[in-house]
Formats: sequence, structure tokens, C-alpha cells
Amino acid sequence: MSQPLILLGIETSCDETAAAVVARDPDGRGTILADVVLSQLDAHSAYGGVVPEIAARAHVDALDHLVSEALARAGLPLARMDAIAATSGPGLIGGLLVGLMTAKAMALATGKPLYAVNHLEGHALTARLTDGLAFPYLMLLVSGGHTQLILVRGVGRYERWGTTIDDALGEAFDKTAKLLGLPYPGGPAVERAAAKGDPDRFAFPRPLVGEARLDFSFSGLKTAVRQAAHGIAPVTDRDIADICASFQKAVSRTLKDRVGRGLDRFRREFPAVAAPALVTAGGVAANRTLRDTLEQLSAAKGFRFVAPPLSLCTDNGAMIAWAGAERMAAGLAADPLDVAPRSRWPLDAEAKPLTGFGRRGAKA
Ligand code: KG4
Ligand code: ZN
Repeated sequence: MSQPLILLGIETSCDETAAAVVARDPDGRGTILADVVLSQLDAHSAYGGVVPEIAARAHVDALDHLVSEALARAGLPLARMDAIAATSGPGLIGGLLVGLMTAKAMALATGKPLYAVNHLEGHALTARLTDGLAFPYLMLLVSGGHTQLILVRGVGRYERWGTTIDDALGEAFDKTAKLLGLPYPGGPAVERAAAKGDPDRFAFPRPLVGEARLDFSFSGLKTAVRQAAHGIAPVTDRDIADICASFQKAVSRTLKDRVGRGLDRFRREFPAVAAPALVTAGGVAANRTLRDTLEQLSAAKGFRFVAPPLSLCTDNGAMIAWAGAERMAAGLAADPLDVAPRSRWPLDAEAKPLTGFGRRGAKA
């Protein structure tokens, strides 16, 4: 009878410091034993974005307490862990160094294996922790740093089908909010304003809609928002609400087209998969309008729509511990203690870089 694997996971790639303890049963079932996240939002909001140096220092201050807290909540000593997993990219290099060095020190001191996890792999495998999803499935990752459509074939087997050629979707929300004078982070503020607005007042562009490739582009949309706002300046609250609602409508239509084509491709490539699934991850997946669009689209195309709870869609340690456990269970080798963090680290090594793909060095 084999025992569950129990891993400690550490996440420090952007502005959340996180530690978690997760168990993976031999049959593939996962249990979160502890999941502690400390958001640095307050430290960065005055600057309207994440300040890398402030983030790295905050990780240093918080991480060892969070690790102790996670172990205490799980009721397990470090000695009981089967391995230690830490995000080693992509992300802000200062933060990655803090998390990975801490994990290395613990691995060295205890003799446990170290798993240097790709942050995107953490997002990609979360649906197996929360919903026990079987491979293959399609994932839409929409966050402040990434907008990607990823085919998840298996542990360590990912194909990037689409990515943004300019801004990430969360970035487009944040920039739209900024130019309308709404607070950071922009996504929730735009969504709140949009609730009272007229989505048909402005006809914003729907970039790449109708094209066969599965990529995304949002910088033109942001420019159109700027022009609309300048054209009617000074903007009233009513104008802001209408712009936000029209912006969300354009994004919704764009996702419907892009992701819809991804679902069609999945059908073509995997006709034998009886219950195909679309998974979402990333902070933008919190948006009700976009979620509804994806849910309806999935239903119309016969896909199951899997949206993990928001706390597991945004950055967290559980997804990193889980990805480490999945790697270990799949028999993938642990990493050497001299493994280096990588600010850029595409999940799909075969995918060609496109011109610009989201905020520089930003988290996923
Ligand atoms: O996944 P996340 O917490 O951090 C990153 O990894 O980037 O995503 C943060 C992004 C921000 O750009 C934020 O504006 C956006 O997600 N966001 C939203 C909403 N909540 C957060 N965008 C649209 N609607 C929301 N309700
Ligand atoms: Zn992320």
C-alpha cells in the first residue's frame, strides 16, 4: 500500500507570498492540508502596479513565517514532507530568488528532493487538484502577465496554442482603469463600473476576431478606449460606466471567438475524448461577464467548463506543491540544488516567442 505524497510548495514570483502543504494520493486525488497567501497589494497600490524591489523585500520578510504557518496548519513537521517545491519562473527575478533559495536551503538541510516548478505548470495542473480532471484538456490562462491558450496533454507535456502578441488581458483591464482614473488593480474596478453601463454605446475593436490563428491582441483595444475617453472629455461617471461596459463586451466577444476556435481545434485533434473540458485560471477569470461568456461557449460546444475557486485561480502555494507532487508521481526527476530561477520560462519549449507577450517580467 503506497502512502500519499506530501509536499511543501512556495510561490514568490510576483506580489503574493504563498506557502502550502498538499497531499497527493496514489490514485491521483489531491488534498490541500494548508494554504497560506499574503498579498502585497497594499504595498504596491500607491504605485499603480507591482514594484519589483518592494516585492522582493516583502517576500524576504514574510516567507519563513508563512512556511512555519503552513506546516503548523497542516499539523506536520518539515521532516514529514516528501519533497519541497518552489516556483522558479517565470516572474520577477528578485522574488523568484527568495522563494527558490529558501526551498534549496530546506532541501539541503533535510536531504529532501527539490522541485523547481514552472509557475504556468502550477496554473495548468490546478484543475486536477480541484476537480480530478483527466488529460488532455484545454486551459485559458488570463492574468496580469499572461493570456494563453494551452493544451495540457499530461504532466510536463504542454502545447501553447495561442498567446497575446502585445498586452496581457489583465494588463488591458489595468491600463483601461488607469486612464479612466479608476483604482489599481483595474479589473475589479472596471467590472464594478461596467455593471451600471451601456455595453452598446461604444463599438470597440475585437482584435484578431475571425483569424484562424489562436493568438490574442489587446493593445488596440486599450488605444480605442483612450481615444473614446479623450473624444468626450471631461468624462462623467456615466461615460466611465459606458466605456467599461463596452470594453468588457469587446473582450467577451474576442474571447468567444478565440477560445471557440481553440475548442473546435481540440475536437478535431481529440475526437475520442468523450467529455472534453475547458479550464480557466488567472485573476481575470474572476470577471463575471467573461466567466459567463466562457461558460455559455463551453456549453454550446459540448465542453465541461471548469473554473477552480478564485483563491486557486490566482497565485497560491497549493498549485506549486501540487505541480511538484504531480511531477514526482509521474516519475520526473527532481532538480539539482544549483538550478537557477528564470524570469522568462515558456511552458511549451517548442513555442516560438511572439513580439511581446504581456507585461515584462510580470507574474502569470
Ligand atoms: O492572477 P492574478 O491575481 O495575478 C497575476 O498573476 O497577474 O491576476 C491579476 C490580474 C490583474 O490584472 C487584475 O486587474 C485582473 O487580474 N483582475 C480582473 C478581475 N479581478 C482581477 N480582471 C477583470 N475582472 C476582474 N473581476
Ligand atoms: Zn499566476
